[in-house]
Amino acid sequence: MKVDVILGLQWGDEGKGKIVDVFTPKYDIIARFQGGPNAGHTIIFEGKKFILHTIPSGIFHPTTLNLIGNGVILDPYIFMKEIDTLSASGIHAEENLLISSRAHLILPSHRLLDAVSETRKGAAKIGSTLKGIGPTYTDKIGRNGLRVGTMRRPDFRDHYNALKELHFHTIHACGADPDGFTLDGLPFGEYEKKWFEAVERMKIFKLVEGEQFLNKCLDEGKTVMAEGAQGTLLDVDFGSYPFVTSSNTIAAGVCNGLGISPHRIGTIYGVFKAYCTRVGSGPFPTELKDETGETLRRNGNEYGSTTGRPRRCGWLDLPALKYSIMLNGVDTLIMMKTDVMNSFETIKVCLNYKSGGEICEEFPFDLADEDLEPVYDELEGWNTTLDEVKTFDALPALLKDYIRFIENEVGVPVEMISVGPDRVQTLSR
Ligand code: GDP
Ligand code: IMO
Ligand code: MG
Repeated sequence: MKVDVILGLQWGDEGKGKIVDVFTPKYDIIARFQGGPNAGHTIIFEGKKFILHTIPSGIFHPTTLNLIGNGVILDPYIFMKEIDTLSASGIHAEENLLISSRAHLILPSHRLLDAVSETRKGAAKIGSTLKGIGPTYTDKIGRNGLRVGTMRRPDFRDHYNALKELHFHTIHACGADPDGFTLDGLPFGEYEKKWFEAVERMKIFKLVEGEQFLNKCLDEGKTVMAEGAQGTLLDVDFGSYPFVTSSNTIAAGVCNGLGISPHRIGTIYGVFKAYCTRVGSGPFPTELKDETGETLRRNGNEYGSTTGRPRRCGWLDLPALKYSIMLNGVDTLIMMKTDVMNSFETIKVCLNYKSGGEICEEFPFDLADEDLEPVYDELEGWNTTLDEVKTFDALPALLKDYIRFIENEVGVPVEMISVGPDRVQTLSR
């Protein structure tokens, strides 16, 4: 068997969580392969709403196993808070959740380092979620990190203290004081205590060698879906660097984030919004800083699932979408939040970028280039509610035109569209 993949094609928050949840009944295993609690994946069904940060979005189907892969980074404190929220709703994640022992740990001092780094950058800050993502992946690559498997060793505290000491040296060298920051509203010492309590509580979870477990499952004919976090334009190599996250969010990340061969990658589903959003800093060529942008934010309730920050909104960006499709080898597109543009009389779509008056033939190295200018086409909006539409065929003709226009431009079919946040508000072709 092969591993199918669902990932985001824009700057995150495309609606990956919703779509993974919709697909879950067809899969035996859902596996997260990168990112950490910077992610916020929203799932809504039967009047309930959940936001997952570290736990895969397959957790609501009791017969599906969920795996936190080696490429993920995990904060025990945030993880156990998620577990408690689920458990308060009668979902006992420990029964169908496995964690790779090779996943790296986010220490409280990683979060301090994140805060120090952002403070030093001032106006040039990344707009990080401040969950310690950059510093934790830095330690992983720098070979200083601590892994989930190390938590169960008797000398874990020694390893922890050595790394914390290293972090404190850096923090002091930056002229900062660890006690000058709070973590989730708590002073460092108190947060650290809770973090260790979470480490203890995590002992009920089964750790696995995720790569061996998954390959064996595939050999046995089990179906596996890999769930991406963030989006392609936040990829550390191909995103709008340095305004990116610190992992490979693209399909290639599935191989090293789960320990599977490229031969074992199956269908790649690319999720995108019918428009664009971005949260945090960094270039955004089609951003709308006007009433239309406000309307998108209001209609789409565009506020960060992890930080609550308002998301920046703008028109669909086809050069960026094509670039993302190329990098991931997307087989099938899924368009989200279609309903958010129900009241638009006209809709703009960015067809190309111009730089110095010339059309850019390639996706630019630097999206922040002041010369860069989006070239738009304007389409007629469907300008009607989709509340009563229950099949793809019954979509308004002008919406079908919008979909066809996108397909023609990018050369990949849109096989599913989402017309509302609930699990059931999803139409397949
Ligand atoms: P993710 O990070 O990609 O999983 O996406 P988020 O959960 O951060 O953000 C997507 C937001 O849009 C969530 O609040 C979803 O409930 C919501 N959402 C998803 N699909 C739709 C849709 O088709 N229409 C509307 N109006 N909201 C949607
Ligand atoms: P999901 O999985 C949207 C953004 C942050 C910031 C940059 C770096 O919900 O789509 P980091 O915390 O990684 O240091 O932040 O990346 N970012 C996201 N934006 N959705 C996400 O995840 C994001 N995860 C990180 O806002 O600009
Ligand atoms: Mg999100």
